[in-house]
Amino acid sequence: MCGIVGYNGNRNAAEILLEGLSKLEYRGYDSAGLAVRNGTSDVEVVKAKGRLRVLAEKTNDGKALKGNCGIGHTRWATHGEPSEKNAHPHISDDRNVVGVHNGIIENYQELKEKLLRHQYTFYSNTDTEVAIKLIDYYMKKYQEGPIDSIARAMTRIKGSYALAVMFKEYPEEIYVARKDSPMVIGTKGEETFLASDVPAILKYTRNVYYIGNQQIARLGKGSAEFYDIDREPVELESTEVTWDAEAAEKGGFEHFMIKEIHEQPKAVRDTIASVVKEDSIDLSEAGLSDELLAGVHSVVIVACGSAYHVGLAGQYVMESLAGIPVRVELASEFRYRDPLLDPKDLVIVISQSGETADSLAALRLAKERGIMTLGIVNVVGSSIAREADRTFYTLAGPEIAVATTKAYSAQLIAVYVLAIQLAKVRGKIDAETYRSLIDELQTLPKKMDRVLEDKERIQWFAAKYSNAKDMFFIGRGIDYAISMEGSLKMKEISYVHSEAYAAGELKHGTISLVEDGTLVVGVCTQSRLYEKTLSNMAEVKSRGAYLMGLTSYGNYAIEDTADFTVYIPRTSEYFATSLAIIPLQLLGYYLSVARGLNVDKPRNLAKSVTVE
Ligand code: AGP
Repeated sequence: MCGIVGYNGNRNAAEILLEGLSKLEYRGYDSAGLAVRNGTSDVEVVKAKGRLRVLAEKTNDGKALKGNCGIGHTRWATHGEPSEKNAHPHISDDRNVVGVHNGIIENYQELKEKLLRHQYTFYSNTDTEVAIKLIDYYMKKYQEGPIDSIARAMTRIKGSYALAVMFKEYPEEIYVARKDSPMVIGTKGEETFLASDVPAILKYTRNVYYIGNQQIARLGKGSAEFYDIDREPVELESTEVTWDAEAAEKGGFEHFMIKEIHEQPKAVRDTIASVVKEDSIDLSEAGLSDELLAGVHSVVIVACGSAYHVGLAGQYVMESLAGIPVRVELASEFRYRDPLLDPKDLVIVISQSGETADSLAALRLAKERGIMTLGIVNVVGSSIAREADRTFYTLAGPEIAVATTKAYSAQLIAVYVLAIQLAKVRGKIDAETYRSLIDELQTLPKKMDRVLEDKERIQWFAAKYSNAKDMFFIGRGIDYAISMEGSLKMKEISYVHSEAYAAGELKHGTISLVEDGTLVVGVCTQSRLYEKTLSNMAEVKSRGAYLMGLTSYGNYAIEDTADFTVYIPRTSEYFATSLAIIPLQLLGYYLSVARGLNVDKPRNLAKSVTVE
């Protein structure tokens, strides 16, 4: 939520900042702003409500702002409505301190009252203005420099933040502080860059530092020094970013989402290749030996949104294949109750960004209880990746569209692989079954390609039903987990009210919502449950629903019930989610396009939810 960039070098900062912000717009897009300074002159602050292009127009693409040290921000509103007044950067009353912020300051009211008592005034409704003025307050009170003042403010601030701050008396430096919100710093020659996410600076440098939690950095032109909250210097190793800048570009596709849908076979192939070595699964890079897995008595999967849906699909696969009890919990619920955890549990936190606030808090709770944790994470160096006892990296590459597709698919592979290995070490499958499951896993990328070849039919169907008002996705078992993800895709990018239901549960109330023309998608990939779901589909059809069926090739009897059917290649039913989700992603995508909506940046959403 919210994107931050910064530049300190010899070029015109505003142009670089705008370019960087354009790569971070997926993090927030209700207003944006820049603060730039030119040597010792006063800082110039320009802000605009609305998308980044409004700010670009206002500053003639940054050319109207002169200065080679600056910070920028694109906002996803938390405190205070989207407006120019609430847009970042925020500045102290005498323009001594100016800064941008990502995160939430929970005790901002209390801090604001303290500052009001010391004659500070406030022009916005944001928590960020409070943080900036608190730093200014400590600087003046103790007559200390930026690191000390920031550190003092950090000890008072409760919540999460990534802050980038500039000071009047230090015109050639930018200061950064972070707690539970991401921030990456890159250097090259005489230049330094900072951003909430790597794609914003990848065009300029591959040499990056992941500033640690509760650390502060002083950024000069081409230099970065790090300090802990006690103001002691700390040494950080830089990391070389290995993925290509093109991976974060649209590459000829109209939207990031459709590009990322097409990248799924590769994401899946790469993730499988990272753990399948010489015909068997090797999880040593994730720190998971067979002995360690054999000692696990039950699994608790914690995640949010689509990552939670991966957990639900994983629960069916792990329980059935490995015979191990699996609980799946929403991180936002898990963290605030007193979950029963056993020392022999394995807590798996699934997260694309590795920065989701609730998932991170859930991870910490499990660690505090002394339970072994595993992060299934896509973003290298993210908080969950660093804090989990063990980390399984999915190799989906950078995912830009707010609606996740390829990261979801790569996460599924991670849970399948864990399920197969758990089944092996628990003696639930023989060597032949083990081998055949791995073989089948490796066929998935090709089969996904085949599903993608059928996209025109879904595009046609989506255009025909682009006026849909209500939709239901129904299925049983794994098909229910698939339905939940299909329904979320529909809601988040097409703004169609949609619900996922366990097909057998409809009769217990919800079927009363079905009327003439209600669109219902029936997911039937599980042979054991196929007839059952077909019956439920027939029940809604007889009440006027228009039915789309989704099943495997060969199950042609579905056409007697469904009005429109999409087929997927046959695979092990454990892995059906990987194929069945693609038509549903395409359905959400094409419906959004047909309705003329902003597919990659749906309203009210942000890519990584770093606030709770
Ligand atoms: C899905 O399309 C959403 N973008 C959202 O539900 C997402 O999966 C959720 O916020 C979790 O994000 P994470 O994987 O980065 O933790």
